[in-house]
Amino acid sequence: MKIEKTLHSRIDEIDFNNISFGNHCSDHMFCSEFRNGEWKNSIIKPFENINISPKSLVFHYGQAVFEGMKAYKDKNEEVFLFRPEENFKRINRSAKRLEMPSIPESIFMNGLKKLIDIDRDWVPKHYGQSLYIRPFLIAMDRVLSAKPSKDYLFMIISTPVDAYYEYPLKIKIEEKYSRSASGGVGFAKAAGNYASSFYPTRLAREEGFDQILWTDSSTHTWIEELGTMNVFFWLKNKLITPRANENILSGITCKSLLALAKKEGIDIEERDLSVSEIIDGLKKGALKEAFGCGTAVVVNYFQTISYQGVNFSLPDIPDDQRTSILLKKKLLDIQHNFSEDPFGWRLKLKRFL
Ligand code: PLP
Ligand code: COI
Repeated sequence: MKIEKTLHSRIDEIDFNNISFGNHCSDHMFCSEFRNGEWKNSIIKPFENINISPKSLVFHYGQAVFEGMKAYKDKNEEVFLFRPEENFKRINRSAKRLEMPSIPESIFMNGLKKLIDIDRDWVPKHYGQSLYIRPFLIAMDRVLSAKPSKDYLFMIISTPVDAYYEYPLKIKIEEKYSRSASGGVGFAKAAGNYASSFYPTRLAREEGFDQILWTDSSTHTWIEELGTMNVFFWLKNKLITPRANENILSGITCKSLLALAKKEGIDIEERDLSVSEIIDGLKKGALKEAFGCGTAVVVNYFQTISYQGVNFSLPDIPDDQRTSILLKKKLLDIQHNFSEDPFGWRLKLKRFL
């Protein structure tokens, strides 16, 4: 892999006490090209605009998949990745569904590790802060016919992010729009899934809600996920999350919280969860807590759930009694090397250069 280091770092432009999500990318980026059936030209180089033909297939037919992951610092400013092999596997599951080539593990992992090593000063120091990493794969053929591309570009860029300050969410259970459909691409981290959620999300925001709780597209009676998060419900003394299926993006945060909850002795269930069970739980006071989780937000709990125009409030319990907050702390402690890592999730980044 070729490495070209910048002579003009932009790091002094960043106020690490006041970071906004995604505004400033780190000094370098990783690129690798898939051409004539082969991966080639892997390079780490200074972050810059890329030159793409307006004919490129990605613009017209949306052959684009991506990942979201983070790097964290510990007290000694060592840098750690969290379960990167899960993101590697997921981008290739997404790529397969969109008829794109799979990325070899060596390209994904070496590109990732070396890029974050070179930009390790960009990983913020404080607990909860992190460097958000965005690997993505796009179709590059310069042709307007609707067919899968032959050429692709895989890139990794990153941006420092602040600790996400929790605010209780007002949720709407969606009954008209859908995020995904049976046989579709819901399980993939396909760029188009996000584009299609923007309009219904804006409508929900105009009604005063923060996020949409997506339900199955054919009956709108089964809970799927929340905006860009997976969901958990603390119902009848069990922590329940909808079982991952072809409509749901199987989240790495969700998987990790399930393992942590199990270790805490919490009774967990991954199963189909109906809207009526949630509404019944709200009416009878059996639903104590509900929250969303994902790499960007970590964990965010719900204040209200609205269904068919009726707003239900969740119990107003103190933060130190919330399962969501307990699990979030356990997760962040592992991510920041503040606690043991019994699951082997942390990957300490070597210094390559
Ligand atoms: N669901 C959707 C649609 C997402 O975009 C995300 C975020 O990546 C998640 C769930 C949570 O996944 P993860 O925990 O792997 O970030
Ligand atoms: C994440 O949580 O990593 C996501 O991908 C959300 C993102 C679309 C901002």
